[in-house]
Parts: sequence; structure tokens; C-alpha cells
Amino acid sequence: MKVFSNYDLSALNTFRMKVKCARFVEYESVKELEELDFSTLPDPVKHIGRGSNLLFTKDFPGTILHSSVDYIKYIDLGLDEVYMAVGAGVEFDRFVEEACKAPYWGAENLSLIPGEVGAAAVQNVGAYGAEVKDIIAGVVCLDTREHRKVVFKVGECGYGYRDSMFKRSGGRYIVTSVLFKLSRKYKPNLEYKGLKDALGGKEPESPMQVREAVCSLRRSKLPDPAQVGSAGSFFKNPVVDAATFARIALQNDTVPHYLLPGGLVKIPAAWMIEQCGLKGQKEGGAAVYDRQALVIVNSSGDAAPEDILRLEMRIVSAVEDRFGVELVPEVEHI
Ligand code: EPU
Repeated sequence: MKVFSNYDLSALNTFRMKVKCARFVEYESVKELEELDFSTLPDPVKHIGRGSNLLFTKDFPGTILHSSVDYIKYIDLGLDEVYMAVGAGVEFDRFVEEACKAPYWGAENLSLIPGEVGAAAVQNVGAYGAEVKDIIAGVVCLDTREHRKVVFKVGECGYGYRDSMFKRSGGRYIVTSVLFKLSRKYKPNLEYKGLKDALGGKEPESPMQVREAVCSLRRSKLPDPAQVGSAGSFFKNPVVDAATFARIALQNDTVPHYLLPGGLVKIPAAWMIEQCGLKGQKEGGAAVYDRQALVIVNSSGDAAPEDILRLEMRIVSAVEDRFGVELVPEVEHI
């Protein structure tokens, strides 16, 4: 177990905010986590993955916990259905790459998503027509209130768009491993139009081929966290009712949209932000990414949290004024 006081978190958040926490604790096994005496840790206690969906708005007065529980187990009985049990501290894309190599179908559309397996299960990460809940069979957690191990089946995790009951539990559950259910049978998911195009309109032969197409799509649109600080999409795509959509459609020639069950309509926030003329706009060291308007980047490399927050407020009020829709951040503010 590694324990540090007054610890610099710049390398532990992909936005690269220069902030510190009072205590940093990294555990190497679930046993170490179970033996941790939470009553001795400075409050509040916050568990993070690789900090790829977080905005630290200031120094953190409490304890940051991090898992380095790193294992991948294959549970393959030779059936169509195959399982992988993965430690929460494994880099999510390492799991995806291993699954594609196996070759198992199911994880390939989620290639190159930053972060770790535990955080991916909390956040229900998604991309290119897939969400991680589609391949989760179960999630193993430490219940910090009852101090015992609990196993949730996927149906018990309260999954929604970038949402889960873990997110709403106020830190009660710490994910320690995830059981993924994949398929040996040919099962590509090409619902996302851009993905079909990236594959040249041909049926893919392997999950690795889909992975490569997804990686090239992501590299063309999203900043590489190793080069530019960001936390991916900053806002959720808003979901509106049909009347609101009709009002927006009346005032704009074409409105990209996706129909959802129950007569609801999802409108890409990136399109709204771009329509407000905000692509490339700056506040101090922060900017709206010029290739994907839903992403805020630390363009100068030394943006302060206030720069990001000012840009966020500017975007929210511009979109509200023009479309009457309130954008909600996807990135967690701490
Ligand atoms: N668009 C614009 N301007 C832009 C970018 C996009 O008008 O600058 C419009 C286009 O009409 C495009 C549509 O927005 O067709 C959707 O764009 P895109 O396919 O890039 O996806 P997104 O809705 O902006 C979501 C996820 C991403 C994920 C992509 C691809 C959320 C909040 N974001 O973005 O996830 O990679 O789809 O599936 O749902 C993340 O969560 O951090 C993330 C990167």
C-alpha cells in the first residue's frame, strides 16, 4: 500500500489540473482495501480511476483512493458465451485489446476509451453505438458501509446513459472487479453510421478490425490525453421532448438527432455548441476543441480550474439562450 500526504494530483487527472490532496492511498490488493481503516483517513474519501472524467476545481481536502489491482482472468468453457474477470485497476483499453485479440466480440466499439475498468463500470462509458453495460455480467464491490464484499448482477446496477447506482451511492460502493460477458460468435455492432463508413462499407472479419476502425475514428476527432489535457466529452447530449425538438427544428434548417423510446429526442450537444460559434473559443488556458465541440481542452497546458469553469459557464449560457436547453456536464466536478 502506498500512502502519501499533500500529494500532487497533476499526473492523476487527464485535464492536468495542478491540484493536491491531503492524503493519497493506493492499494495493491482487495485484501489491502478491506483492511483499510477508513476512520483514520481525512474526509471526504473519494475513489478515482485514472482521473479521465474528472475536473478538480480546487485542492482536495480529503483522501484520494486509487486501485492498482491489476489482473485479467479468462473464463472460457469453449461455449459461444465467454467471460473475462478483470480487476478494477486494469486500464480499460488493455482489457478491450485483450478481448479483441482472443478474439471475443463485444468490447471492440469501446476501444481507446481512457480510464480504468472500475471507473468504466461506474460511469457506464459508451461510444460508437455501444455502452459498457451491454457486456457487463456482474460487478464486485466493497460495501464501505457494511464492510463486506457484494456482487451485483448487471440488472441491479441501475445503469443509464453515463449513469449507474454506484455513481448515486455517495461513495458507498468501491468496485473491485468486473465480470464481462463476451461472445465468440460473429457479432459486430455497426449501428453507428460513421463506423460502417470507417470500415469501407465492408463487413468486418474480426473484432480487431473493428477496433482499428474505432481507434482511427477516435484519433481523428478526440485529443490524445498524452498530448493535450482534456476529459473527453464535457457535457452529456441533452434529451428533449418532441415539442422542444419541434421548436428547435423550426428555427434551424437541419438538426442532427436520434429518436429514443418514449417519444424523446437526443440532440448532439457538440452541434449546439458549434451553432453558438464557440468552437475554438478560449477562456484563459482553456479552449473548446477545434475538432469536436463537446470537448474542452487544457490548450495552454497550464489552464487553471477557473478557466475551465468560466468556459463551461459561457457554453451553458450560450446554448440556453439560443436553444432554451440546459446542458449538463458529463465530467464530474470535485
Ligand atoms: N457534431 C457537431 N460538431 C462537432 C462534433 C459533432 O456538430 O464539433 C455533431 C455531428 O452532427 C455528429 C454529432 O454531433 O454527427 C455527434 O458527434 P459524435 O459522433 O462525435 O459524438 P458525440 O455525441 O459528440 C458521443 C460520446 C463520446 C463518444 C462519441 C462516439 C457523449 C457525452 N459522448 O459524443 O464519448 O466517443 O459519442 O460514439 O455521449 C466521452 O464520453 O468522453 C466520449 C468521448
